[in-house]
Formats: sequence, structure tokens, C-alpha cells
Amino acid sequence: MTDLSHGAGAPAIRAAIALAVMVAMLMAASALFGEGAYLWVKAAHIIALIAWMAGMLYLPRLFIYHCDAPPGSAQSETFKVMERRLLTVIINPAMVLTWVLGLWLAWQGGFFTAGWFHAKLALVIALSGVHGFFSAAVRKFAADANTTSQRAWRMWNEVPTVLLVGIVLLVVLKPF
Ligand code: HEM
Repeated sequence: MTDLSHGAGAPAIRAAIALAVMVAMLMAASALFGEGAYLWVKAAHIIALIAWMAGMLYLPRLFIYHCDAPPGSAQSETFKVMERRLLTVIINPAMVLTWVLGLWLAWQGGFFTAGWFHAKLALVIALSGVHGFFSAAVRKFAADANTTSQRAWRMWNEVPTVLLVGIVLLVVLKPF
């Protein structure tokens, strides 16, 4: 069985350090570049959200294939490694980056009171909830304890796409 708990403290410390470095860099960028920093940070936000979404679209696809692999088979063990790496190397850091940069943009742009921003935030919180659900599923698959059907995974596979469409329409069109 793949041990996902191994060294669980180390990633948390690394994440805290990365977060502190990121916040320091954002503060330095606004001090050094003033208004110009906004567009650089927005570009970084878009790059981070693409990485987050790429992982959120691929992970449930792996779950769909994983359902067909008998527990204990070589295939199943390979899916466990793929799922864990995708989650810890791409999806988790990309989500943190998207949140930090997005909140900085909202603060700098003065969007905290805008209606479209509240709606976007609601959808992003829903997306983060789906992220949490997928993380739990990676742990369950790792323990050969998945109880969600392949059909249900096919449905979950579409949820991030629907949320993505709503989020992008809200932030680009700012309809209210
Ligand atoms: C995690 C929390 C997030 C926050 C707080 C946040 C906040 C923001 C803010 C304030 C802007 C700048 C808007 C402007 O300058 O007009 C922005 C830009 C953008 N965000 Fe987010 N965002 C988040 C997550 C996401 C996610 C998950 C997506 C897509 C799935 C996304 C897609 C975009 C896009 C495409 C832009 C560029 C819009 C434009 O320049 O017209 N954001 N975000």
C-alpha cells in the first residue's frame, strides 16, 4: 500500500515557507514596480489557475481509469503514484498560488465590495471544496477503499469545467 502519511509534516513546513516567500515577493513587487506590478501578478494568477485547473480536470479522469484496475494490481499501484504526485506536486501548490495572487489582486484592485467578485468567490470556494473532495479520494484510492462508482466519477469529472466557465465569465464580463 502506498504510504501517503510519510513525512506529512515536511510538506506543511515547505508550504508555509513558500507562502511567506510569496507574500514577501508580492510586497516587494508593489514597492518596486507600483502600478506595473498588478499586471505581472495577474499574469502569474492566470498561469497558476491554468495549472490548478489542468490538475482538477485530469485527476477525476485518473479515478475513472483507476476504478477498472483491480486492487493490488500493478496498474492500480501506478495510478496511486500518479494521483498522489499530481495532487501534491501540481494541484495543491497551484491552488495556494491562485488564492494568494487572486486575493492580492482583489485588494489592490479594490474589488472586495463588487457583486461579481462575491459571486466569483462563491464559485471559487465551491471549486476549492471539490479540490478537498478529490484530495480525500486520492487517500481513499491509496488505501484501496474507494466507494464512489465509475459512473459518479464521470459526473464529478465535469464539475470543475462548469465552475471554471462561471468563474471566467464573472471575472471577464463583471456583469454586476
Ligand atoms: C482563488 C481565489 C481567486 C481570487 C481571489 C481571484 C481574484 C481575481 C482578481 C481580483 C482578478 C483581477 C480582475 C481584474 O483585474 O479585472 C482576477 C483575474 C482573473 N481570474 Fe481570478 N481569482 C481567484 C481564482 C480564480 C480561478 C479559480 C479562476 C479560473 C478558474 C480565475 C480566473 C481569472 C481570470 C481569467 C482572470 C483575468 C481576468 C481579466 O483580466 O479580464 N480566478 N482574479
